[in-house]
Order: sequence, then structure tokens, then C-alpha cells
Amino acid sequence: MSDLSRTVPQELLPSDDLHPQPMPVINLGHLSLDSATRCRVVDDIAKACRDLGYFQVINHGISQSVMDCALEAASDFFKLPSETKEKFASEDLRRPVRYDTSSKDSISMSRAFLKHYAHPLSEWIQYWPQQPPIYRKYMGKYASEVRMVALQLMEAIVEGLGLGQEYLNEKFHEGSQLLSVNCYPKASQSATTIGLAPHSDYGFLTILLTSCGGLEVVDPSSKIWKRVQQLPHALHVHIGDHMEVLSNGRMKTVVHRALLNPEEARISIASIHGFALNEKVTCAKELVDEENPPKYKESSFSDFLDHLKANMDNKHRNFLESLRM
Ligand code: OGA
Ligand code: NI
Repeated sequence: MSDLSRTVPQELLPSDDLHPQPMPVINLGHLSLDSATRCRVVDDIAKACRDLGYFQVINHGISQSVMDCALEAASDFFKLPSETKEKFASEDLRRPVRYDTSSKDSISMSRAFLKHYAHPLSEWIQYWPQQPPIYRKYMGKYASEVRMVALQLMEAIVEGLGLGQEYLNEKFHEGSQLLSVNCYPKASQSATTIGLAPHSDYGFLTILLTSCGGLEVVDPSSKIWKRVQQLPHALHVHIGDHMEVLSNGRMKTVVHRALLNPEEARISIASIHGFALNEKVTCAKELVDEENPPKYKESSFSDFLDHLKANMDNKHRNFLESLRM
């Protein structure tokens, strides 16, 4: 498997590849304190979203045991015999559950992944793996709790954009949640290898839980790769394509990738939050005026899946570019 992974070109290495770069850490519990404290946190989140597009959250209300159990369920799934896992293999991007051992980009060949929808949970959980027996229970618990974190963050982010706490509330509540559960082998050579090629996520935001370091994000001002710090009990959050559209470019989608960890195999669970499948995302009309004409065409999650299907073999399958006016 490892001979298929590609070495990271030297020029793409982060400038400081010894130390993970510090990034903003938001204490989410402070959102529900008095209104002055809430305002400060909303401002901190808005600043992180505008300047960087990524930050981490602590005190998010998900217990360590719920996070550990979800990682354990994922890890146990990937340890199953190939025949069991391959029952979920499908080329059809619209299948409720999809397993694969490689991306189709010819860059990141060493990742195995399971993708499935998670909201509404009662609708989708029946399709999830029944092996390992703990999978549905543990992953379901984490999925519903991480969705609560996403809703709080969406509320804070739209407020920070000046759109008011209740803006699009219903559409977010009825929105989609896609879990991308990834398993990367330990790096087998001394050279750094890519586990997941650079890309941005289509949704409004992604919340990522990982078992160890390996995630990197492009710093928007310096354009260099930054290692994402692995803080105890923290979750990593980044902005996706649809947030860039909604904010009419005030917030930028985050290009990120995963490197193989030299010390251990790595599990990550990315929870991607968007509108319902056919709900169109447009630039918020409140953020559009003569000086700021709409920068992007409207699109839905379903349009994203169509775009992906049409560009399956293309390394540059950039959805956001296709939306630019
Ligand atoms: C993803 C993703 C990063 C990681 O699944 O979209 O970016 O660290 N994962 O696995
Ligand atoms: Ni991603």
C-alpha cells in the first residue's frame, strides 16, 4: 500500500515542520454565558473565520469518553476483514454508506475511508455497519453530539457576519451531516507521505476529531502548510466552500491535507455540515451590494456531488472555482 503513496514535494513542506503552529482556541462554553462574554466569543470566532478559516474548540460539551469511543468504533471497523468492509464499496457517490481504500486522485492512495450520512440519524443509522457491534451506538452518539457543536458554531458565525443569531436557523437545523471516517497507515518511509491530497470541504463547516497529528492547513496569508496542533480534548474546525459562498467571500474555504503519521496509524472523523441535499446556498443578500456584487453562483450539496462525479479523475476538481462568477 505504502509504495503507492506519493512523497510530498519539498517545496510544499511547511516552513517549520518540527512544531505544530499555534492556532486560535475557542472556549465554546463561553457562548452560553452572559451576553458580553458571548459577544466576545462571537467576535473571536468571526476573526478566526475571516483571518484564517480555522480554529479549535474546547469545552464543547462532548466528553472524552464519547470521543474515544467513536475513534475506537472507527478503528475496529477498519480492522475487519476486507470482505466485510468491501460490502460497503460503491462508485455511487449518493449511496448512504460508502467504503473505499483509495481516492481517485492518484495522489492519496493509502487512505481507507467510510463515508456516511448522519442526520437525521434515525433515517440513516439503519445503513451503517453492524460490525463492529459497537459501531452504530458509539458513532451515533458522537454524531449527534458533534452536530450540536456545529449548530452552536453556525449560530455564532452567522451572528459574527452581522446576520443575526436566527439567520437561516431552520435550514441549518434541517441540514445534512456527512461523516467522513478515515484510516491512515503509519508512514513506512522516513519521507513524509500524503494520506489525503489537498482539498477543501464542500459544506459550511467541518469539525474534525483525530487520534493523532497529521492534518495540515494552508495558512491564507503566507500560503504555507501549517501543521494542526493536537490539543487534549479539542476539536478542529474549518470553514468549507459553502461558507465562502454564504459570506460572499468574507470567509475563505480552507485547503487542507493529511500526512501519514510516522509514529502510528491514524484515525480521523470529519463531520461535514451543510444544508439539505437539494437546498441551494446563495451569497447572503445582506452581504451583497453595489460594491460587493455576488461572487458565486448558487449551488446545493447535490450540485457538489454532480460536480465530483463529473470530475472523478481530475486532480483539480475544485468545486468552488466552478461557482465563481
Ligand atoms: C476529510 C479530511 C482530514 C484528516 O475527510 O475531508 O479532510 O485529517 N480529513 O483525515
Ligand atoms: Ni477535508
